[in-house]
Amino acid sequence: MARLTYYGHSAFMLELDGKKILIDPYLSNPMSPVKPEDITDVDLVVLTHGHGDHLGDAITILKRVKHAKAVAIFELANYVGEQIGDPSRAIGGNIGGPMHVDGLKIALTTATHSSPYGAPTGVVIMGEEGRVYHAGDTGVHMDMMLIGEIYKPHIALLPIGGHFTMDPVEAAKAVELLKPKVAIPMHWGTFPVLYGKPEDFKKLVEEKGLGTEVVILKPGESYEFKF
Ligand code: NI
Ligand code: MN
Repeated sequence: MARLTYYGHSAFMLELDGKKILIDPYLSNPMSPVKPEDITDVDLVVLTHGHGDHLGDAITILKRVKHAKAVAIFELANYVGEQIGDPSRAIGGNIGGPMHVDGLKIALTTATHSSPYGAPTGVVIMGEEGRVYHAGDTGVHMDMMLIGEIYKPHIALLPIGGHFTMDPVEAAKAVELLKPKVAIPMHWGTFPVLYGKPEDFKKLVEEKGLGTEVVILKPGESYEFKF
């Protein structure tokens, strides 16, 4: 079984095809049940963009877990490689054309947002046990239709907090474009400015009658799957 564990904000541990993949590891967020030093084993640290609440504790973790590799857009990967003093452990790619890493396919996707290092992205991580799309920080955009058609993600992790990203109304539209089997809300509740509520997102998706199951994970909870 593959497993997704939510650490609050946009941070997840994805266990897929025997690999441990940490996505946007801002583990010092106030909702997180784990601390950066609790992460002792990880294979890949995938970063959607360079904002502090996504790059998070990646540098600290990569410095300590010496076999772990970072995966991100070219400019952000270069920055991380410099910071950890080992460019060979920072895999830089770009949007489209999945990278082949550790037996997985990893595609960076468009995100309508900003970033201090290169373009902001989402990411689709594809393995034998399933395909997971983490949207990063983004507004809703029509490329989500292409992401749905080409990569066919089973699970979509979507920001719903508003202000910096989609709110529940926009994220429900994203579900309509992506057509995943499961949608999991993220980037909510960490700070008062993030007003979007996961229950509102769930209700809006259900009202559309798309057949997508909305799974609300509280920080520390996991979702197991095999598609
Ligand atoms: Ni951001
Ligand atoms: Mn963010």
